[in-house]
Amino acid sequence: MKEYEVRCIKCGARFAKEEVVYTCRHCGGLLEIKYDYSEIDAERVVKGAVRGVEGKASEGKARRGVWRFRELLPFAEETAPVTINEGETPLYRCERLAEFVGLETGELWVKHEGLNPSGSFKDRGMTVGVTKAVELGVRGVACASTGNTSASLAIFAARAGLPCYVLLPRGKVALGKVAQAVIHGARVFSLRGNFDDALRVVRALCEEERLYLLNSVNPYRLEGQKTLAFEVAEAFGWQAPDRVVLPVGNAGNISAIFKGFVELKRLGITDSVPKMTGIQAEGAKPVVRAFKEGRAEIVPEEKPETIASAIRIGDPVNAAKALQAIRDSDGVAEAVTDEEITEAQVALARLEGIGVEPASAASVAGLKKLVAEGEGEIEEGEIEKGERVVCVTTGHLLKDPERVIKICEVPTEVDAEVDAVRRQLLKGV
Ligand code: F0G
Repeated sequence: MKEYEVRCIKCGARFAKEEVVYTCRHCGGLLEIKYDYSEIDAERVVKGAVRGVEGKASEGKARRGVWRFRELLPFAEETAPVTINEGETPLYRCERLAEFVGLETGELWVKHEGLNPSGSFKDRGMTVGVTKAVELGVRGVACASTGNTSASLAIFAARAGLPCYVLLPRGKVALGKVAQAVIHGARVFSLRGNFDDALRVVRALCEEERLYLLNSVNPYRLEGQKTLAFEVAEAFGWQAPDRVVLPVGNAGNISAIFKGFVELKRLGITDSVPKMTGIQAEGAKPVVRAFKEGRAEIVPEEKPETIASAIRIGDPVNAAKALQAIRDSDGVAEAVTDEEITEAQVALARLEGIGVEPASAASVAGLKKLVAEGEGEIEEGEIEKGERVVCVTTGHLLKDPERVIKICEVPTEVDAEVDAVRRQLLKGV
């Protein structure tokens, strides 16, 4: 069995691997998985990443996607993963988008996590989280969600044959995500409240009813999500980029990706970590406020509001980890308006052919804003134009088709005649 500890980031308390625990029982701090890094063979991490199958997939030894990085995951070599072939998403070089955001060198890359099987990055975390749920022998899994977490969990629970319970804020979740949760058999509740209310309720329920909580407060989820860092570093010949930009909601993903880069550096595989750059919406920006005011903790926002429903969160559970990731990496947090998000969503779609949901476009909108702020003299935290930057687009366009129809020109209705179509076609040409 691989040696690792579940440790409180605040007071250092340790918990057994067999224990079901999400936050520290002593001080309430967030937990993190810690390995004995002196025991991990860096050579094996790099070699293991070479895609291939060790033994038969049916024996649980498939090494693909997230599971290429078993050396840095909290499982024994023989553990059979619950998997839907997550990870190994494309990393696109985006020269036209670079021009749009004002990065003159064109060293802009987009890691499109919307191309995971369920359409969001959540699959990376769920493959690890649900594999742990099976190992623990839990009687069911649960989450609160702005949509993507529930869609992903419903799929993995179906794969594992586990009952799945999902709490969604009523009327606040994009339709594609609700459709996924219901078709895959989750029991879905539409809660009269917002996401923060849903998370509060589901956390209490999980404690009392012995259901396994799979929100990003669960440290095993973050172990899966950190593998994005490994894929990015690998793509650059085991070098970290200068900066990684991504949307921040419950603040799990930025913490996870940072942990991935820190582990690579610690093992001597890379020699730097990227500046972690977190983007929130103007109407839901507790992390940005805390960062700019130099505070270690956030002040929750009562009524978060933005068209980017995935990140409409006022009280992010992983804020402490995220703020540390941003500060330790010399990164920055910034907020963007709904208009800026929409503009970036359209730019990604039309300049690069990358279809994303609004929350994902926040990364590109934030980058554009930071580059503009860096015009002339570059100040600390702002973006230097020679940087190699990776934007993470977290969710697929088809998650939220209603929003697209609202912002784009609607299809033109015509008679089924060649001339009728031609007349319309040539209009304004
Ligand atoms: N982008 C998308 C598409 C998301 O669905 C989320 C979070 C985020 C970004 C933010 O990631 O929470 O790790 O900071 N969605 C969660 C959910 C909250 O319930 O689906 P984070």
